[in-house]
Amino acid sequence: MGPLPGPRSLRTPYVAGNWKMNLDRRSAVELAEAVRGHAADGVDVGLFPAMLHVDEVARVCAGSHVRVGAQNCSDEPSGAFTGEVSAAMVKDVGARVVLLGHSERRHVYGESDAFINAKVIRALSEGLEVMLCVGETIEERRDGRTEDVCRTQLVAGLEGVSRGDLERVSVAYEPVWAIGTGETATPEMAGAVHAYLRGVAAGLFDEDVAQALRILYGGSVKPANAAELMAVPDIDGALVGGASLRPDTFLPIIVAAS
Ligand code: 13P
Repeated sequence: MGPLPGPRSLRTPYVAGNWKMNLDRRSAVELAEAVRGHAADGVDVGLFPAMLHVDEVARVCAGSHVRVGAQNCSDEPSGAFTGEVSAAMVKDVGARVVLLGHSERRHVYGESDAFINAKVIRALSEGLEVMLCVGETIEERRDGRTEDVCRTQLVAGLEGVSRGDLERVSVAYEPVWAIGTGETATPEMAGAVHAYLRGVAAGLFDEDVAQALRILYGGSVKPANAAELMAVPDIDGALVGGASLRPDTFLPIIVAAS
């Protein structure tokens, strides 16, 4: 019998682009076509276009290795919630996954852990996958509170999620101070938080599901730093903002994950 597979081999690398509030319809389609046309053996690829473009981008990526997601969804199933989009609507137009708890939702729009958790439960109950983001601010890191903050966000975000449903959840560790700043956590810094979060997941569920849980790193990931970050055993991929907006900067990050 050969050697037992290491924990990392349980987890397929996952690279996702969060396009945030960028691109028009035509450039979203062109970028999706470029990503779709790029073979990525052994890597799961995700795209999170702006809500209005999810439908079209999902059509472009249908039947490919690229999964399309929304950057947000409502915690409510339907009804009089002006401006909101339900998880069922997101799924209906072809999205497979929803990004929840992004720091811009937490810090710009004041979303609480309880609110994010309600969205997580709603999205999972509609059959979507969830990518749950957690991460500390620079003040919290300076105060030595990184682990506390990330643990609280993870535990609260996953409250009420069953062991079975956790298979449809991935986590993105995105230190707020590294998002859009050009400042990246070192592989050692990020790896330490990823290992810590995996331990938190093991405590919440068990070691097997924690080993299967994919934890992505996000925050100024670029072609130049992607390989060294994803070489860390507990870093299972990348959630990419700015560098996901162009094929020449996003595709090399996918290659770095393979
Ligand atoms: P940047 O890659 O632009 O730092 O953004 C990271 C991010 O917020 C992805 O969700």
